[in-house]
Amino acid sequence: MDEAPYVLNLPEGFPYPDIPEDNALTAARVALGKRLFYDPILSADSTISCASCHRQALAFADAAAISPGAGGRLGFRNSPTLANVAYLTLVNKDGGVPKLDLQPLVPIEDHNEMDLSILDAARRLNAHPDYPAAFQRAYGEEATPFTITRALGAFMRILISGNSDFDRHERGEGGLSESALRGRGIFFGERAQCGSCHSGFNFTDNSFFNNGLYDTYADPGRQRATFLPEDEGKFRVPTLRNIALTAPYMHDGSLPTLEAVIAHYDSGGSQHPNKDPRVRPMGLSELEKSDLLAFLQALTDSVFISNPAFLPE
Ligand code: HEC
Ligand code: HEC
Repeated sequence: MDEAPYVLNLPEGFPYPDIPEDNALTAARVALGKRLFYDPILSADSTISCASCHRQALAFADAAAISPGAGGRLGFRNSPTLANVAYLTLVNKDGGVPKLDLQPLVPIEDHNEMDLSILDAARRLNAHPDYPAAFQRAYGEEATPFTITRALGAFMRILISGNSDFDRHERGEGGLSESALRGRGIFFGERAQCGSCHSGFNFTDNSFFNNGLYDTYADPGRQRATFLPEDEGKFRVPTLRNIALTAPYMHDGSLPTLEAVIAHYDSGGSQHPNKDPRVRPMGLSELEKSDLLAFLQALTDSVFISNPAFLPE
């Protein structure tokens, strides 16, 4: 086993993420996870990899409202960005998965995603000409449900994004246009209060809210995990980093553009009883809407989407 650590380079203001004791971040684990992430060997018909739905050029999200999985089948949620997933406290939009290292089990086994039992995945990898040596280097054992999911978790932890025009501005290096600066004021201001849910270094407080998308939800969101009526229509507040790259938006990809998102919040949204009171009609002027858009566009990290360290060797 090769225990050489992987050194995470964190942007200013980013805390060191919690790394589970049973999956210390090593270069061998990251390299193995990266290879698995891009390898269709983890899908039943060997056509779909994690990267099919999480594409680096799109901040590891996808352009389709619902991305097709094995056999062209469709699931029911929009592929989210994987930027900064190292910081998630609960995983998936409904928080139904408690740890990042367990999450890969969901897409690998899901009939609409990769449709392969994890035991079959392990058998395939252990019969492969060079994966067994890579698993030995990374974990000192063969491919198992534990080591497959841990290696993917290790790779996803290095997907750190914090190098946007907004970050340059916060470091006092300029970077924001006049319009984006005014948009920043609106975003964090009293009227829109975007920054009270989309807060902190990753533009999320990791909590669950109903942001008034529907009167009736086909997807009950957080309620799927808790069964509580007060959780109906609540979803985890998503990061807004690289948001200009991850259209379409919301849990079901129903809003095609950032203009549509801004129009949604400006209108005050639905009448759902769980809707958070901060989502209410705002009466933004056309100029204010375009300023808010300019601010959201300044959250793109162009280094992140072209970093060769995230590509397989
Ligand atoms: C067919 C498309 C598809 C494939 C293939 C796929 N994903 Fe996803 N991924 C999604 C969707 C859709 C979600 C949102 C699921 C939810 O919230 O219920 C998601 C969510 C996630 C999340 C949670 C992110 C968050 O913000 O909570 C992680 C982590 C993740 N995927 C990693 C992976 C890994 C690793 C693989 C490969 C083993 C993979 N995905 C394969 C579509 C896909
Ligand atoms: C009450 C908390 C709350 C407030 C206030 C709020 N949001 Fe959100 N936002 C959410 C939640 C929760 C979601 C996810 C909803 C879903 O997945 O259906 C979301 C989703 C989004 C998305 C789509 C993200 C994606 O990846 O699909 C954007 C963009 C966004 N919000 C921008 C804003 C802006 C701009 C404001 C201010 C005008 C704002 N939000 C105010 C909670 C909030």
